[in-house]
Amino acid sequence: MYFVANWKMYGSLSSLNSLNKVIKFSKSKDIKKGRLIYCPPFTLIDAFSKKFKNCQIGIGGQNCHEDDDYGPYTGSINSRMLKNIGAQFVIIGHSENRAEGETDKVINLKIKSALKSKLKVIFCIGETLKEKKQKKTKSTLSKQIHFGLKNIKNKANIFIAYEPVWSIGSGVIPTHKDLFETIKFIKNKFRDKPQRVLYGGSVNPKNIINLKKVNNLDGFLVGGASQSAKKFIDIVKKTYS
Ligand code: 13P
Repeated sequence: MYFVANWKMYGSLSSLNSLNKVIKFSKSKDIKKGRLIYCPPFTLIDAFSKKFKNCQIGIGGQNCHEDDDYGPYTGSINSRMLKNIGAQFVIIGHSENRAEGETDKVINLKIKSALKSKLKVIFCIGETLKEKKQKKTKSTLSKQIHFGLKNIKNKANIFIAYEPVWSIGSGVIPTHKDLFETIKFIKNKFRDKPQRVLYGGSVNPKNIINLKKVNNLDGFLVGGASQSAKKFIDIVKKTYS
């Protein structure tokens, strides 16, 4: 199982101390190497990568520009820069970025650029509440997968993160049956090679007890709860207990 912490636009240098607990925990023999991944804001990637130097916690960015070359794009950071500063992963296609106008086409370019820079990609997909109500979950996911991964043959370094938009930050999670069926639907799209699929949306130390029973999942993408080392560790511990 993989556990990805998405810190979004939170965190400062003073948050670094809270990681000591996670570093200690990551060394316990039950945790496989590289299964905990932190995606802090860009400003903290360097400090995190120094902090995690002697442990097996992965680091990722939360987005990147679609051009892997340098260029006149004020305020942007590309996959090459992320790799250079010590990141091994990048989240792409998060609904919070899609909501600001990021299209499937741009997401596709970003994924290609990240793979070219030798980053592993956490590719987010998910339906809105409106789409869910209109029973368009499957068609939305199909479209996001089709266009997001267009002309990408080798998908070994891509994790799909299914994050229903209505579940993010709301405290509401899908039913066991719906989640199992949706993950199965996503996995069936990758028949030739099995694809890892994570779930994200309001994961916390309480509901993980139910979420972990969805036995076709490969891990979790955790937002709010991941900012607390205790809660994040609890989520991991309870997944395995
Ligand atoms: P929350 O866990 O805060 O709902 O956020 C989920 C998310 O968006 C992770 O990428």
